[in-house]
Amino acid sequence: MKRLAILTSGGDCSGMNAAIRSAVRTALRMNIEVIGIRKGYLGLMKGDAINLDNKAVSGILHRGGTFLQSARSMEFKTPEGQQQAIEKLREMGVDGLIVMGGDGSLAGALALHRLGFPVVGIPASIDNDIPYTDMALGVDTALNNILYAVDCIKDTASSHARAFVIEVMGRNSGYLASISAIATGAEYALVPERDYDLSEICQQLRGRFAEGRDNAIIILAEGAGHAQDIANSIKDAIGFEVRVTVLGHYQRGGAPTVFDRLLASRFGKKATELLISGVSGVMVGLSCNSMLATPLEDVIKGEKQPQDEVLRMAEVLGI
Ligand code: ADP
Ligand code: F6P
Repeated sequence: MKRLAILTSGGDCSGMNAAIRSAVRTALRMNIEVIGIRKGYLGLMKGDAINLDNKAVSGILHRGGTFLQSARSMEFKTPEGQQQAIEKLREMGVDGLIVMGGDGSLAGALALHRLGFPVVGIPASIDNDIPYTDMALGVDTALNNILYAVDCIKDTASSHARAFVIEVMGRNSGYLASISAIATGAEYALVPERDYDLSEICQQLRGRFAEGRDNAIIILAEGAGHAQDIANSIKDAIGFEVRVTVLGHYQRGGAPTVFDRLLASRFGKKATELLISGVSGVMVGLSCNSMLATPLEDVIKGEKQPQDEVLRMAEVLGI
C-alpha cells in the first residue's frame, strides 16, 4: 500500500479532526501517503481531494466539526455512484479508504468493500446508535454540551417556577436523552425505547407542584415525540407555565472532550493499521476499553442493544 484516503460523511461530530490527525500521523510513520477527500461521498465521486501531510493536520485536534467537511449524497447510494467513486479512487492512486461517519456512511463503506475496494470504518455519530462499539465518536462531547445547556435552563426554570421540555437529538435512539437526564437530575426522560403516558406524567407533575416543587425538566429524545405538542398538553393539564428548548445542532459542535480526543486518536490509529495490514470491510470499535474490529456486514445488519441497564437506573432514580 502506497497511498490511502480518508473521508468524513453524514452528520459531523466533535473528534473527527482528531481522528483524521491520528490516521495521517500513523500512516506517515509507516511511509504511506494520505489524501483527504472533501465533503464525504459527494466529494469522492468528484475526486475532490487534498494532500494531508503532518502540517495539514497540525492545530486541528481541538476543533469540533470536520475540516474535510461532510455531506450527504443520494447519488452515492446508486451502483453507478459507487462505481464512479471507485474509479476516482483508482485515478487518484488510492489503495485503501477510511470512512468516518454514522450507520449510513458505514453502509456506504460496506458497499465499496463488496465491490472489492479496501475500506475500514470509524463509528462517528452523536446518536450512539452504532452496534459493536460501546461509544461512537462525538457522543461524549454532545453529552457534555447537553449537560451545560440543561444546567443553565435549570437555573431559569427554578427562578420562574416553570417546567421545561428540552429536546435533544438522537434520531431513533434515546441514548442522549436518558444519559443526560441521569447526569442532570432531570425529572423525566422521554425516549423511543420506552412507552410513556403523558396523563400520568401530568398527574405526577401536579403532585410535585402541590408539594412546592414548582419546576421540572423533561428531556425529550427527538425520536420520542414533538416537543411543542408535549409542552401544550402539560400546560393544559397542570396550568403551569411550560417552555420548550430545542437544543438542535448546538449539540454537535464544540471542542471535543478528553474522552473524545483519546477515542479519536485510538480509532484513527487502529483503522489505519488495519487497512495497511491488508484488512478490509471492518469497523473499529471500543469494547470494555479495548479496540475491536467487527465486520461491517455485522455492524450494518446488527442493532445496538437497548440501554436496559441505563433505563432501569433511570427508573430507580425516579426519572
Ligand atoms: P450518517 O452516516 O450520519 O448515518 P446518513 O445516513 O445520511 O448519515 O448517511 C451518509 C451518506 O452515506 C448518505 O448520504 C449516502 O451517501 C451514504 N449512504 C447511506 N446509506 C447508504 C447505503 N445503504 N448504501 C450506500 N451508501 C449509503
Ligand atoms: O445523526 C446525527 C444527527 O445529528 C441526528 O441526531 C439528527 O437527527 C440528524 O443528524 C440531523 O441531521 P442534519 O444535520 O441533516 O439536520
